[in-house]
Amino acid sequence: MNRQVICALDTPNLEEALATVERLKNHVNTFKIGHALTLPHGLDVLNRLRDAGAERIFLDLKFHDIPNSVALAVAEAAKRNVWMMTLHITGGPAMITAAVEEARSADDANRPLLIGVSVLTSLDQRVLSDHLGVNRTVEEHMVHLSSLAMEFDLDGVVCSAHEIKSIRHAIGNRGVIVTPGIRLPNTEAHDQVRVGDANSAIEHGADYLVIGRALTGSLDPEKTLEQFGLLSN
Ligand code: C5P
Repeated sequence: MNRQVICALDTPNLEEALATVERLKNHVNTFKIGHALTLPHGLDVLNRLRDAGAERIFLDLKFHDIPNSVALAVAEAAKRNVWMMTLHITGGPAMITAAVEEARSADDANRPLLIGVSVLTSLDQRVLSDHLGVNRTVEEHMVHLSSLAMEFDLDGVVCSAHEIKSIRHAIGNRGVIVTPGIRLPNTEAHDQVRVGDANSAIEHGADYLVIGRALTGSLDPEKTLEQFGLLSN
């Protein structure tokens, strides 16, 4: 079982998501879901995925609201034994603290990991500088926000393969790094800009790799994991 791989289930089709879990459950125990599955099916989808074989669920809803609203959202997710969830670091210290306090009030077995999102991979330097008025490079801004996340006790951060080294350097071993945009060398990047391969991501300091289409679109996911160097028994 590979415990570093998180398979992203980016589909509104519950049957398709369940089939993917069934197909991968002997090799991957963690699955990531977002708005596409939870809006049409509600959080009951968590139990359906567990029944199909998902041991751990990463609820990627990227919370960003006033502290009270985010704390309520974290409480609902924690009640349902979500293993990991995301929130935007730009929600600020009060929002982060409210989320952390809520997560910590869950008993140990149900305590979710709270992971901070800094700069979305869909934003580039031009948008950051010209539209959002940020006078730092994307990487500098990610390092800045990731350090803030650690200062206010989040459990880790999301970043692409390109920023792992500098973020790991900045946060040391205080938090986990979750890296999406993982591809086999010389394969389709789809809509991702900052992609990287699994082994160098791990080498540079990623703890978890989010892999979506490369796995869910594979006719032979076992072989794909082997090609990634991620097939373990
Ligand atoms: O199919 P692919 O491997 O590109 O899927 C990557 C997954 O990681 C998607 O679910 C996407 O929403 C998520 N993600 C991302 N970039 C981030 C945060 C999350 O690609 N910065």
